[in-house]
Amino acid sequence: MKLTRLDKLRLRLEAQNACLGWAFEEIAGKPGLVFELGLGHGRTYDHLRTHLPERDIYVFDREIDCYEDCTPPRDRMLLGNIDETLQAAAERFPKAAALVHSDMGSYTEAHNSAMSALLSRALPAVLAPGAIVVSDLPLAMTGATALPLPTGAQEGRYFLYRAGV
Ligand SMILES: C[S@@+](CC[C@H](N)C(=O)[O-])C[C@H]1O[C@@H](n2cnc3c(N)ncnc32)[C@H](O)[C@@H]1O
Repeated sequence: MKLTRLDKLRLRLEAQNACLGWAFEEIAGKPGLVFELGLGHGRTYDHLRTHLPERDIYVFDREIDCYEDCTPPRDRMLLGNIDETLQAAAERFPKAAALVHSDMGSYTEAHNSAMSALLSRALPAVLAPGAIVVSDLPLAMTGATALPLPTGAQEGRYFLYRAGV
């Protein structure tokens, strides 16, 4: 039977949750910032701040449209188009992110392929050596290696990368 949209959403959320849980353990004890690309309603930001209470988390989006109790502190929100805010972050925090969670996809293929290309180009400048990138879109970042997904995540539903050292 073909997968319904509900099936695909469930697989995506299971993979997102499993990959983030894996990444939290992977960066434990390693210094570095956490970047959340795509505040959206704030669901994964809430997950990050809950599981990584000691980390400095910077959140990127072009708007603030989240649950009120998931609004990031103003000085941790980089508001604007992601190509500009990532470039500003690369100047302010060069090679400083230990973990990037990127949740920038939408329902349109044109948006997703353009976003994949933009992120693949821009992210390496902010990644610390060995940083982990957890992404809803496939990326092709210079110097980074694609990783297999952890138990509980079906391949192709989310994407994991490790930056070169
Ligand atoms: C899938 S939602 C993020 C969901 C969020 N992580 C959550 O768990 O609630 C994607 C977000 O990316 C943002 N976005 C899409 N294209 C963008 C762009 N070019 N620049 C900045 N933000 C963008 C949208 O505004 C949207 O909030």
